[in-house]
Amino acid sequence: MGDSDIRAVDGITLDIYRGEFISILGKSGSGKSTLMHIIGLLDHPTEGTVKFEDRIMSELKDHELAVLRSEKIGFVFQAFNLLPRTSALDNVILPTLYNKYISKRQGIKKANELLEKVSMKDRIKNTPGQLSGGQQQRVAICRALVNDPSLILADEPTGNLDSKSGLEILNLLHSLHEVGKTVIIVTHDVNISSITDRVIKLSDGKVFEDKWQKHDGEDYLNNMEIF
Ligand SMILES: Nc1ncnc2c1ncn2[C@@H]1O[C@H](COP(=O)(O)OP(=O)(O)OP(=O)(O)O)[C@@H](O)[C@H]1O
Ligand SMILES: [Mg+2]
Repeated sequence: MGDSDIRAVDGITLDIYRGEFISILGKSGSGKSTLMHIIGLLDHPTEGTVKFEDRIMSELKDHELAVLRSEKIGFVFQAFNLLPRTSALDNVILPTLYNKYISKRQGIKKANELLEKVSMKDRIKNTPGQLSGGQQQRVAICRALVNDPSLILADEPTGNLDSKSGLEILNLLHSLHEVGKTVIIVTHDVNISSITDRVIKLSDGKVFEDKWQKHDGEDYLNNMEIF
């Protein structure tokens, strides 16, 4: 910015293991979203290396990265980012259209199954504007899951929700971890980071703490088994 050089993330070294349940915790502007975009292969770092399943990401072509992202990574955003004039069902089906391993019929079946699991069966024909925030986020989670990714990245997934709907979404993310997915939640809220097994704390683009914890936040969840 102007004469000053802003390092959104700076000198970060991290290993993230399959099946981990992690939160990235930090204040506004600390670099959480930037780090998430790098982990999610949406952005490239100016310097340094990103490896995903032992492959060096800077060596892949854009279309190879796009395939990797769509098959292996599910994104959940604070603002849901659903297509506004498209039904819940079609929003969830969408990522399967670009997946060569899933036929159209399988995509429709999978999307219906996922929406049923999150209690959205009766609302599949509704567009996002006809759904509450919590319902939209459940649809967005189904969309993130429909290609069966191994990694789920959620950036402030409860930021636009009331506490009850937020808790439902956290329970969903927790149950995805329970079935073996790697789940990373970006948050500024210590209540949310308390439910994860590992907390990576960011400040001014740097990791100032990275530790595993006994999740004292278990009580915060009601441990619904959803997935
Ligand atoms: N495209 C960009 N151009 C310039 N500066 C940027 C850009 N993206 C992010 N930044 C800066 O990098 C820093 C980190 O931003 P980032 O969005 O990663 O923070 P964050 O922790 O996600 O914040 P929030 O909690 O508000 O979402 C901030 O100082 C931000 O202003
Ligand atoms: Mg952010």
